[in-house]
Amino acid sequence: MLKDKRILLIIGGGIAAYKTLELIRRLRERGAAVTPVMTGAAAEFVTPMSVSALAGEAVHQALFDLGAEAEMGHIQLSRSADLVVVVPATADLLAKMAHGLANDLASTLLLATDTPVIVAPAMNVRMWEHPATQRNLETLRADGIAFIGPNEGDMACGEYGPGRMSEPMEILAAIEARFSSGPLAGRHAIVTSGPTHEPIDPVRYIANRSSGAQGSAIAAALRDAGASVTFVTGPAAIAPPTGVKVINVETAREMEAAVSRALPADIGVFAAAVADWRVDTAQPQKLKKVKGEIPSLSFVENPDILASVSARGGNRPELVVGFAAETENVVENATQKRARKGCDWIVANDVSPDTGIMGGTDNSVVLISDAAPEYWPRMRKEEVAKRLVERIAKRFGGEKA
Ligand code: CTP
Repeated sequence: MLKDKRILLIIGGGIAAYKTLELIRRLRERGAAVTPVMTGAAAEFVTPMSVSALAGEAVHQALFDLGAEAEMGHIQLSRSADLVVVVPATADLLAKMAHGLANDLASTLLLATDTPVIVAPAMNVRMWEHPATQRNLETLRADGIAFIGPNEGDMACGEYGPGRMSEPMEILAAIEARFSSGPLAGRHAIVTSGPTHEPIDPVRYIANRSSGAQGSAIAAALRDAGASVTFVTGPAAIAPPTGVKVINVETAREMEAAVSRALPADIGVFAAAVADWRVDTAQPQKLKKVKGEIPSLSFVENPDILASVSARGGNRPELVVGFAAETENVVENATQKRARKGCDWIVANDVSPDTGIMGGTDNSVVLISDAAPEYWPRMRKEEVAKRLVERIAKRFGGEKA
């Protein structure tokens, strides 16, 4: 997919710059040509020597470099690539891009380019949340700049929150998605998967038997069809697929927040077996056993993620697909569930213990839409995923313009 593609890699000055070394390796492995550009600050974090050794090309650093200009002028440099990737995109670099400043080589190339640009922001959480940065992001989105991340997590500066740069493999997946020619190329899909764990105390929780196999298979099939996939998964037994953006969550409420943050999307597939209830009285300390006393738990309802996404106004995905795990009257219950939750399709399955479906390798589903129910034969979960994604691709009728 990346063979012979030319990537202009602009490295900004942040601690996350070290991750670009790994990214360059992975890009080269896949046959891409990487032309590196570093800002002055980037060279404080990683050496141009390492970057050029891995890229196999000289690093471009200075705007006024007569030798380099004689070989390839900066305008030509900005336009000779198939894709411009900015990693890490610092608050300063994003601000320059949003305002059209061009006072060094990196910002000049970004202003002069007519090539699609993807940025992977990385900065301290306060800088990310600052109204100035948020204004700049809005401007850049309107200018058609594509974003990867940032992720939420521990930062090198010791704080926690959004602002952490996406991992090299996530950036690679987003770059590959740009060059994919599958029927869902250019589409963003969110997939929920796995069980949720609802804590009783720090060591005990309530869960269900979902393995995450069906959700993982769907995410992989969407990826193979060219979609860029955000995979929001509870603690599942099956590893997430590669080449998708993975967001790990534990509880239903965390899953809901992660899905919300991942919007907008063209497609939402809600395969997670979300716990309907959580323990109202979850304890911060481990419950101690007291002889003769049995603790009683009281429950409250969890948010219904599928229903709330289906009911969204502005950024409801164009196609919302839910699942229905039933143990009796599968079609009737699933049809009611589709109406109640407001989704477009329901993939209904019988999870009675004798079917071996929950936690097993096979699935036997009925697709409920506004047409007549479609009974699919029992098949492997990967096959169900492929067939569902073929249906989704048909629904979208080709690549996004
Ligand atoms: N779902 C969700 N959020 C919840 C519960 C369910 O997003 N809090 C989604 C599931 O991911 C699935 C669909 O809703 O796509 C149906 O899940 P299911 O467990 O079959 O339905 P419930 O709403 O739990 O109804 P019931 O348990 O009464 O069958």
